[in-house]
Amino acid sequence: LAKVEVELASIPEGKNVIIKWRGKPVFIRHRTQGEIDEATTADWKTMRHPESDESRAKRPEWLVMLGVCTHLGCVPIGEAGDYGGWFCPCHGSHYDISGRIRKGPAPLNLEVPQYDFEGDEKLIIG
Ligand code: FES
Repeated sequence: LAKVEVELASIPEGKNVIIKWRGKPVFIRHRTQGEIDEATTADWKTMRHPESDESRAKRPEWLVMLGVCTHLGCVPIGEAGDYGGWFCPCHGSHYDISGRIRKGPAPLNLEVPQYDFEGDEKLIIG
């Protein structure tokens, strides 16, 4: 199955990139410490789809997830919405800085694909 390699140095802190993997957009965000703190201290047990940030991000500074809204599949917009993460303009789903659904019709968090790191320099998706 196809894997995609991403050079981590090409993504500055506080920035998102979108790559294509198996025909789908994948969002990669290099999170700031403030964002990590927000993602890890939010009360995930009360969320619609309860997942801890630790269970979603193997390294807290890197958030990797499919850019496919879990409602009907639109591509959410980054750095938007009421929770500091992503906003899906199709029907108004708000995702937080861990990609968890917080408001709107989407039933599930943005899906985390299989990925791994190679040292400190490379991310391999797939
Ligand atoms: Fe995203 Fe409906 S497809 S809110």
